[in-house]
Amino acid sequence: VEWLKNDKLVSSLTDDKVDTRDDYGLIINEARLSDSANYTCLASNIVAKRRSATAPVIVYVNGGWSLWTEWSACNVPCGRGIQKRSRTCTNPAPLNGGAFCEGMSVQKITCNALCPS
Ligand SMILES: *[C@@H]1O[C@H](CO)[C@@H](O)[C@H](O)[C@H]1NC(C)=O
Repeated sequence: VEWLKNDKLVSSLTDDKVDTRDDYGLIINEARLSDSANYTCLASNIVAKRRSATAPVIVYVNGGWSLWTEWSACNVPCGRGIQKRSRTCTNPAPLNGGAFCEGMSVQKITCNALCPS
């Protein structure tokens, strides 16, 4: 029994994340986006060869936050104002239905700019 990934032979000898020993199944450990593919099982003996239906594997990726930007300058030249910083859900961006980042994308704090006397 052999496994094909997009019609190319999958080997547990060359990819240590792949396990083809157990019960002739195919186990992909710690699946990554690059494991997304169409998989096919190929069984053969002396007299015949059979190919299974293709099984598409789609790997979901949950979103992750970027680093925060620097705090902006105080938004007023004098007196009480606001500073902001932001981050984006792009590290990585969610893919194939993976979850969006949890939490706030913008933070605000108050600031006190010194007024000229
Ligand atoms: C699987 O095959 C279909 C049809 O050829 C193709 O559209 C799709 O992109 C393939 N999926 C992957 C993950 O390669």
